Amino acid sequence: MRILGIETSCDETACAVVENGTRVLSNVIASQIDMHKKTGGVVPEVAAREHILKIIPVIKEALEQADLDWKDIDGIAAVPGPGLISALLTGTLTASTLALVKEKPLIPVHHILGHIYGNWCERTDVDFKFPILILTVSGGHNDLVLMKNHGEFELIGQSRDDAAGEAFDKVAKLLGLGYPGGPIIQKVAREGDKNAFDFPKAKLGSRTFDYSFSGLKTAVLYAVQEKYEKEFNPEKLNSSFVCDVAASFQKTVAETLVDQLENATEKYSPKEIHIAGGVSANLALREEAEKRLLKFKVPIRYPVNIAFCTDNAAMIASCGYFLHLKDPNKYKNWQNIQPNADFTF
Ligand code: KG4
Ligand code: ZN
Repeated sequence: MRILGIETSCDETACAVVENGTRVLSNVIASQIDMHKKTGGVVPEVAAREHILKIIPVIKEALEQADLDWKDIDGIAAVPGPGLISALLTGTLTASTLALVKEKPLIPVHHILGHIYGNWCERTDVDFKFPILILTVSGGHNDLVLMKNHGEFELIGQSRDDAAGEAFDKVAKLLGLGYPGGPIIQKVAREGDKNAFDFPKAKLGSRTFDYSFSGLKTAVLYAVQEKYEKEFNPEKLNSSFVCDVAASFQKTVAETLVDQLENATEKYSPKEIHIAGGVSANLALREEAEKRLLKFKVPIRYPVNIAFCTDNAAMIASCGYFLHLKDPNKYKNWQNIQPNADFTF
């Protein structure tokens, strides 16, 4: 079965075709990163206009790259939310229109559940065992999810304030490094001393698997302000200071993310541990997870390609396939997908 996935929840206009939930036949992404670099982050109105311009060419390109026609497509998956409402509108409206005109089933996919299926993309050789404990961590969300089967997800922890990716982006801005923050911080951190600063980890108590990154962000701000005696000017920060802050910050984020993953693994005894979302591309996080979770003797997996960590439509198509497989009758109605910034699972 071939599903065409559409993703427009933030700043990527993406379309992909995936066969049987794992085989990626095409994966097209029109990124707006260069545009948002100028403003140091995403301006929703600008993102929404760009989606409108790109959505049709991106869908055509995905079909062309897969060398397929509409008759070869068995269903459409798109994201009602969460995300920027004006951005979601383009993807959902386009998907609904196509489902109506081409008479295809239409599968709404929660953006975070989509990220979870980034781990299925291009992984045709593995039969994952449930339950799976998943840390899905991106710019907009920071969740711990227990997946008991396809379509059976339990949210067991989340960030109470910023997501880790958002903290990467804000700290990078503070250090004058640009947007998006994660990849740049990872790069400059290689030149820094990760023990140079002892940044705080939020203490939320032993009864929760939640996260908090606002205190860490403020601690980085204070370190920067102290260096320049409260005169905030990223241009003046010297490079060894920036590298040390980046390395210490990255280490603290990785440890914090893995702390809760370790606690939740002890409680839920999953058969696998998956890490997904944009921040799962981070090598310090992967190293920390490998080191600390080795003792549980369960497979630890990340998407096979960085393109399936950050926003993409292959993960949406993959999730759509497995949801449809479970309950095909649910997805016959093209009207069943409406943009909803607060969409829950
Ligand atoms: O999943 P994603 O593309 O979009 C959202 O759903 O938010 O994640 C984007 C986030 C950004 O905050 C970006 O800084 C972060 O993922 N990111 C990284 C890395 N690559 C992307 N964070 C840390 N290290 C990376 N290598
Ligand atoms: Zn995302």
